[in-house]
Amino acid sequence: MRLAVYPGTFDPITNGHLDVVAKVAPLFDSCVIAVLHNPNKQPLFTVEERLDLIQAAVACWANVRVESFSGLLADYTKQIEADVVVRGLRSVSDFEAELPMAQMNQRLDTHAVTVFIPTSRDSADISSSLVRQVAMHGGDVAALVPLAVCNALRSKFMST
Ligand code: COA
Repeated sequence: MRLAVYPGTFDPITNGHLDVVAKVAPLFDSCVIAVLHNPNKQPLFTVEERLDLIQAAVACWANVRVESFSGLLADYTKQIEADVVVRGLRSVSDFEAELPMAQMNQRLDTHAVTVFIPTSRDSADISSSLVRQVAMHGGDVAALVPLAVCNALRSKFMST
């Protein structure tokens, strides 16, 4: 049974992330979307909110589940016995940032292999922080995120 982990902050999950999930889910027996709990960051959405939003967005894939983790990714991949770490590549600069992380993770967990998935052109310009910025100023993010995220962003920024 081949287990893939797709880690990230997902603050919030976007259609770009879902493009990666759609490509990866059919390739593995099981896929975990792993939300990083990073005490050094001040995310817009709590870990619980992010887990709920992702869960709703990936419900159509029976072999995809959602979890959170903290600390080193390599410790988490060892703990759940993941075979593959998935990272999406939107650009060459993503690759430059990702390669050293993949190499360090390989050093720390010699079993799990990082696999890079090129994202589709449509999602190359999407990032969670840009989505947050556009939504904060009342811009339309309906084409960039799942509906539940769109609604959650609206209520976050209506209440601030
Ligand atoms: N579509 C849309 N956006 C994408 C994307 C895609 N396919 N792939 C990445 N992004 C964006 C995210 O939206 C996010 O945007 P933002 O910075 O504007 O918010 C940005 O790219 C970074 O994304 P993410 O994939 O969430 O990476 P991250 O840097 O937040 O976290 C981890 C990466 C979790 C894998 C890494 O930090 C980690 O492993 N941390 C644990 C600690 C550890 O082990 N450190 C040692 C690593 S060697």
